[in-house]
Amino acid sequence: MRLSFIRPISCCAVSSSPSTSFKPQTPLFLRPPTFKTTLSDLKKWHLWAKSLASSVSSTFLKLDNGPNSELLLRELNWLIEDTIETPKSFFQETINPVSTRVCLDELYNLWKQRVEKRRPFQYIVGCEHWRDLVLSVEEGVLIPRPETELIVDLVDDVIKENEELKEGLWADLGTGSGALAIGIARVLGSDGRVIATDLSPVATAVASYNVQRYDLEEKVHVKQGSWFEPLRDDEGEFVGLVSNPPYIPSKEIGGLQAEVGRHEPRLALDGGESGMNDLIHLCDGAVSMLKPGGFFAFETNGDEQSKFLVHYIETKKQGNFSKVKMVSDFAGIKRFITGFRGR
Ligand SMILES: C[S@@+](CC[C@H](N)C(=O)[O-])C[C@H]1O[C@@H](n2cnc3c(N)ncnc32)[C@H](O)[C@@H]1O
Repeated sequence: MRLSFIRPISCCAVSSSPSTSFKPQTPLFLRPPTFKTTLSDLKKWHLWAKSLASSVSSTFLKLDNGPNSELLLRELNWLIEDTIETPKSFFQETINPVSTRVCLDELYNLWKQRVEKRRPFQYIVGCEHWRDLVLSVEEGVLIPRPETELIVDLVDDVIKENEELKEGLWADLGTGSGALAIGIARVLGSDGRVIATDLSPVATAVASYNVQRYDLEEKVHVKQGSWFEPLRDDEGEFVGLVSNPPYIPSKEIGGLQAEVGRHEPRLALDGGESGMNDLIHLCDGAVSMLKPGGFFAFETNGDEQSKFLVHYIETKKQGNFSKVKMVSDFAGIKRFITGFRGR
C-alpha cells in the first residue's frame, strides 16, 4: 500500500550523470507548490477524472491484464497526494484556493495520458516506491519491480556471514533507476562500494540523480556502457555481482500489458529470441570479474530460464562456481539464480 510520503531525502537540485547531458525530471512530489487553483475547478477536475477511471471498468484487465477502475481510482488518490500541497484539506474542502505542484491543465493532461494512453502511473508522478526508497523514474528507465527487491535481501543475507563481501566492491549491471545499486549500498559496510552500469544514457542519468538524492555518491559510482565493458579496470576485483537484465523473449514483447510494452524501454525488456542472451553473457563474464568466493545473483523470467542457467553453469562453466542454486520469489516462481565464484 502506498502511504503518504515520509520524505527522508533532500529536494535540492542535483546535477545529471557526468556521462550525459540528459537532465532527469524532478518527481511531482518534490516540485514546489507554485500553482493556485480554485476549489471548485479542482473538484470539477476530480469528478471528471473519477468518471474517466470508472468508464474503464474491467476492459484493460480483460484485454492485457491492465488496471481496472478500482486500481485507477486508487492511483487518482495517489496523484492528488503528490500534486496538492495539503491533500487532506482538499478532500475536506477546507481550503480555497488550493496550492498545487502542476497547473490544472497539466492535471487534465496527465490523467488523460494515464487512462487513454495507458502511460504508467509511475511515469505520471515521476517516481516509484521500492523497498524503503522513493526512486525517480521516467520514460527511458524501467520502473523497478517488487520481486527485484528480494535481490537486496539475498545480498544482505550473504554479507552477514562474510566480512569480505560486506566491505568489498560490488557491481549492479543494467542498473536502470539505480534501485539495486542504492539498495545494496545501504546494506554494505562503511568500505563497501558499488559500480552501477547501464547502456542507456537516460538510465545512467536517472540512476545518478537517485544516487545523489540518497547522498550515496561516495559509495555508488554510475558508469555508462555495455555490461562488463565499463568494469574492465576492476576485472577480478568484485566480491559481488547483481543484475536484473532484459529477459523477455523478443516475440513476447508485443503481447505485454500496454503500460509495459508501449511505454517502458525495449532495451530494458528484450532479451533476444530465447530471452536469455544477456543472462548467458552475464554468467560467462562473471567468471573473470569475480574474486574467488565472490557472490552473484541474477534475476530471470522464471523457472525455465533459471533451470537452464543452472544447468549451463554446471556443464559449461564446470569448476568455476560453487553452491549454484535457484531462489524463488514471493509467488513461488524460481526467479533468481545465485552462487559463488569457486575458491
Ligand atoms: C530489466 S531492466 C532492470 C533495471 C533495474 N536493474 C531494475 O531492476 O529496475 C534491464 C536494464 O539493463 C539495461 N541494459 C540493456 N542492455 C544493456 C547492456 N548491453 N549493457 C548494460 N545495460 C544494459 C537496460 O537499459 C535496463 O536498464
